[in-house]
Order: sequence, then C-alpha cells, then structure tokens
Amino acid sequence: MIYLNGSFIPIEDARISVLDRGFIFGDGVYEVIPVYSHRPFRLTEHLHRLQKSLDAIQLKNPYTDIEWAKLVEQIIASNEGDDQYLYMQVTRGVAPRDHAFPKVVTPTVFIMSSPLVVASKELIVAGVSAITANDNRWIRCDIKAISLLPNVLLRQMAVDSGATETLLLREGFLTEGSASNVFVVKDKLLLAPPKSHLMLPGITYDVVLEIADKHQIPYEIIEISEYDLRTADEILLTSSTKEIMPITLLDGKKVGSGKPGNVFAQLYQYYQNYKVTIMRGESL
Ligand code: PDD
Repeated sequence: MIYLNGSFIPIEDARISVLDRGFIFGDGVYEVIPVYSHRPFRLTEHLHRLQKSLDAIQLKNPYTDIEWAKLVEQIIASNEGDDQYLYMQVTRGVAPRDHAFPKVVTPTVFIMSSPLVVASKELIVAGVSAITANDNRWIRCDIKAISLLPNVLLRQMAVDSGATETLLLREGFLTEGSASNVFVVKDKLLLAPPKSHLMLPGITYDVVLEIADKHQIPYEIIEISEYDLRTADEILLTSSTKEIMPITLLDGKKVGSGKPGNVFAQLYQYYQNYKVTIMRGESL
C-alpha cells in the first residue's frame, strides 16, 4: 500500500495529474527513511530535514511531525518485510503551468515503502569501486529536492563505467557522491567534508560522526582536496539505503591497500550494533 493525498491505496491504483508541479517542474522535496524491524530509523531527524527543505522552497509543511509519524507507522504496518525504506515526497501540487507559485497551493503528498536490501557481506568484504566527476549541480545541494537530473546523470556515469558511485569534486574539493556522503581516512584520522550548501546534510553522516565521538575514533571536519581523496588510506560512502560502504577502487586505482580498512571496519560494526539498540528502543 502507498499513501497519496489522504488515502492508502495499492500503488497500481495511484494517480496524479500531469499538471502536478512535481511532474512539470520537479517542484518538490523528498526524504528517504530506512526502517529496521518495523521501526523508522532517525525519524525525528528526517522530519526535521524535510521541514528545512520545505522552508527552503517556501512550501508549507502539510502535516505536523505527529501526523507524519502516524502516516509512517501506517505505511510500515501495511507493507511486508521487517526492513523497509520509505520514500516520501511533497510537491507544490497541481496548477496551470506557470513557473511562478500558484496563488492557492494544495501540495501532493506521496509515501511508499520498498524492501530495504543492505549491502551483502561480499561487498562489505571486497568494497566497491567509484569514479570521480566534476560536481556540476546547482549550489543548493543542501535542499533534498526531487529535481535530481544532475545526480541522475552523474550516477549513470558510474553505472556506465561499472562503478557503484560517482564522487564529486567542485573546484578541487570533494563535496559528496551522486546519492551519498563521502568520508576519507588519512593517517588513521577520519575526515568529513563540512556541511554547506554544496552537499546534502546526510542523516547517516551525522550518525557516523556520533559513533566516532562515542567510540573515540579521531575525526576532523575539514575541506577534503582532490589530492587528499586520491592519496586516502580509506574512502567510505554513507546513505540511508547503503548504510556505510568501503570504496576500494577509485578511478581504477586501489584506495590504500585496496581492501576495506580498519576505520571502516570499526564504524561498520558500531553502526550494525547501533541498529540493534535502536530496534530495542535504546539510544546511542
Ligand atoms: N540519497 N547526498 C545525496 C546527494 C543523497 O542523495 C543522499 C541520500 C545522501 C545521504 O543522505 P542520508 O544519509 O540522509 O540518506 C547524501 C537517498 C538515499 C536517495 O536519494 O535515495
């Protein structure tokens, strides 16, 4: 079952107007929330980021956090599988085509659930490959906007070259991946690019830094140059659907030893433990 504008219906029956501004202009925002053992992971943080995205595009939040939480609970219950991921989208609704906002806005709200398939043990042991590309997106990458054409094209570059992700460089510095945040390890120090309008403030990114804090894994939030990236001992990517993954090949060259490193191994294990504590309703 999906949720669309007040109704829970099978996805095959869901219909929206071709005049929806999401369809016409990509005028909307979204969230992706992992669900472990029927519990949404970091729901408060995802709803907070949704609010920030809505504020940034001047669209009123159609629901309170309590209403969102109730919808999320209903969607999880009406879909199979212990582990799911939720996709929720709010657009500026249906209106005659005009770039300017309509006078009266009735947002379109859509939530769906898909099975969450996390990385296999083999991938975690071997790591994945990535390529680099020029970050040619706009400069409001902090908004989780549905207009993702640049990200789509950048991700396809990875797929076309047999890689998992495209790491983005803007003016000689690492920003993030086409659909993930990126960390680097140099001399046992975990490096994280500072949050700015040039990257999405990842919820998983925050979890990684909290874990590093809690377990005394040394880290620094600092601009990461192309040189630092190319001479890194380890590179990690994070996202709600990929969790934490090691990148062991960058542009065809081995990252460090070419195997997932120690910092990755620690963060990965702590993240898995953290998921279990969350499922039991405990905190980090
Ligand atoms: N994408 N940066 C970009 C550009 C992203 O699209 C994502 C996530 C992230 C990681 O954010 P988080 O840890 O909050 O998932 C960073 C989601 C998963 C998607 O679009 O499917």
